[in-house]
Amino acid sequence: MVKESVELKQQPQVVEEIAIEGFDHVELFVGNALQACYYYHRGFGFDIVAYKGLETGSRDSVSYVLRQGKVQLVLTSGLNSKTNIAEHVHVHGDGVKNVGFRVKDARKAYATAVSRGAASIYEPREERDDNGTYVSACVGTYGDTTHTFVERHAYNGIFAPGYRPLEKKAGNSGLLIIDHIVGNVEVDRMEHWVEFYQKVFGFYVYQYFDASDISTKYSSLISKVMANKSGSIKLPINEPAIGARKSQIQEYLDYYTAGGVQHIAIATADIISTVAELKNRGIEFLSVPRSYYDALPDRVGKIDEDMDELHKLGILVDRESEGYLLQIFTKPVEDRPTLFLEVIQRKGAKGFGKGNFQALFQSIEREQELRGNL
Ligand code: FE2
Repeated sequence: MVKESVELKQQPQVVEEIAIEGFDHVELFVGNALQACYYYHRGFGFDIVAYKGLETGSRDSVSYVLRQGKVQLVLTSGLNSKTNIAEHVHVHGDGVKNVGFRVKDARKAYATAVSRGAASIYEPREERDDNGTYVSACVGTYGDTTHTFVERHAYNGIFAPGYRPLEKKAGNSGLLIIDHIVGNVEVDRMEHWVEFYQKVFGFYVYQYFDASDISTKYSSLISKVMANKSGSIKLPINEPAIGARKSQIQEYLDYYTAGGVQHIAIATADIISTVAELKNRGIEFLSVPRSYYDALPDRVGKIDEDMDELHKLGILVDRESEGYLLQIFTKPVEDRPTLFLEVIQRKGAKGFGKGNFQALFQSIEREQELRGNL
């Protein structure tokens, strides 16, 4: 039985919140952007909308911008071994380098963040082309991960100056918007990063889970969810907790060799059709034990969806006081067991599927065992 975790309503804020409209884009540094692009395009149904590389005058790196609904992914590779991109891939494997926040005023957001102790990655940069002016600035967060502040209200181009449009339609799979992005940090580092988001960004602790909430015989974690007031940004942060054997969070840290983004959760309005479509396209999801579905009707009560359909697709359900949510997790999307994606549909529930963590953990542990890492 999972005990009720403490749900913290809005607490008095330590500092004024940095005004963020929402997630702007997520940039991944990958070994081969051309091939990663094919995977997200064909597998997940993202349109390829913009490109920069040798042909556009970018001598050291190549980037593709992919878009579905309001989700923008940028896939970037280095063109030689001296780039920090190649170094990042060497150390971490493919993974998320940057989580971009859309803001009205990038200079102000950056100045505020740095004055409150954020590490500067680059100062405000104004870029112009025929489509207007694009301003960005960048600060560091856990591991080698960064946050850019993106100001694009005076820019009408496809993505940013330096990119040229591409029109490769994928026939989308119903992915709409980023719901939350989860970070894994080292043992005893969660509080540090919680304070960082409180003191630098003015975010608050939306929910937390301790080891007794999320544990199996072998593995456990503790987690706090950082969020802004509007709820447009939700950033859960996990650290491993001591279990009898290696936590899945520790496995991530061992392979990523630092804190970093564990998963990107993307919302859909119809999870059954989205997951059916993604499976048709070849995307692989974690399997769920049969016993999970035997216990489901009693655990979640009446829901709109057909339980057999959910079972067939392996979709998880979690009930909260305000409603319920449906979710599913992909297998890692690269060879190292690091980053994965989540598809989520909310029907009133505001949480993250705590009741599913147990079932999910058991499933992840089966995969961990197959990798010889349990
Ligand atoms: Fe999640």
